[in-house]
Amino acid sequence: MSVQILDHQLEDYFNTAVELAKKAGQTIKEAFYKEKNVDTKQSAADLVTETDQAVEKMVQEIISQKYPTHKFIGEETVAVDGSSCTLTDDPTWIIDPIDGTTNFVHSIPEVSFSCGITVNKEVVIGVVYVPILDQMYTAKKGQGSFLNGHKLSVSSVTELKQAALIMEGGSSRDPDILKAKLDNLRNVLTASHGIRAYGSAAINLCKIASGICEGYVEYGIHCWDIAAGLLILHEAGGVVKDTTGEEVDIMRRRITGACSVNIVNQLVPLLTQLDMGRD
Ligand code: IPD
Repeated sequence: MSVQILDHQLEDYFNTAVELAKKAGQTIKEAFYKEKNVDTKQSAADLVTETDQAVEKMVQEIISQKYPTHKFIGEETVAVDGSSCTLTDDPTWIIDPIDGTTNFVHSIPEVSFSCGITVNKEVVIGVVYVPILDQMYTAKKGQGSFLNGHKLSVSSVTELKQAALIMEGGSSRDPDILKAKLDNLRNVLTASHGIRAYGSAAINLCKIASGICEGYVEYGIHCWDIAAGLLILHEAGGVVKDTTGEEVDIMRRRITGACSVNIVNQLVPLLTQLDMGRD
């Protein structure tokens, strides 16, 4: 049965998400230039630090106290207890405490706190905060998206050959996955102005929302990397799809985001599709 949420409740969730982002940002900033304690998860390039864990714990405690009936999906909680990520109709806080952990470990400033809130399995609030650069990206469903209060809108470029794209290597070192990703990289690079990688899926989506770069493709991301960013891009006038061009499924571990459907339609035929499983 679908869940009804009133406007004032959504406003309250939004304000809480922004407050959490500021608190998380403070902890991330304090740790950013210090030595980090780094561990690995699924691969030698899948990194986690004590700051990722501390931020997630702090955020989860606040959410569970304030909204005891809400669900929580957090990157580091899933990594530790292998808890399933089944998305239900209940309000669900989908959190990446540090999106761009590799950047964080190497003191590259593009690290973000990402908080998406779903209701009836749809993202209704997205907050991405980049504390080192003090950039707060926000969106509420149907109400536009903003960077530090300034309204965002996507680029008007419609031709892939005039577009700057974003693609990431990701953390898998599986040879078949790497081969497909490198083939895709070559095809997209050949057809466009160039390729960039900001090192955080949430920031990648926010860049397109801001009119910087026209498209983004990634295989291997998780729901916590993209939940907030996809609403921010959508609300800036962009489109978010599966890598086949079909409707996006945020649990399916692959995404293409673009300033327009034209760009998605030109990107899709260049891609070797990868099945990355589900969150
Ligand atoms: C990673 C970042 C990176 C992307 C990886 C993600 P994390 O998230 O979003 O840009 O390429 O696929 O796993 O591990 O830093 O939260």
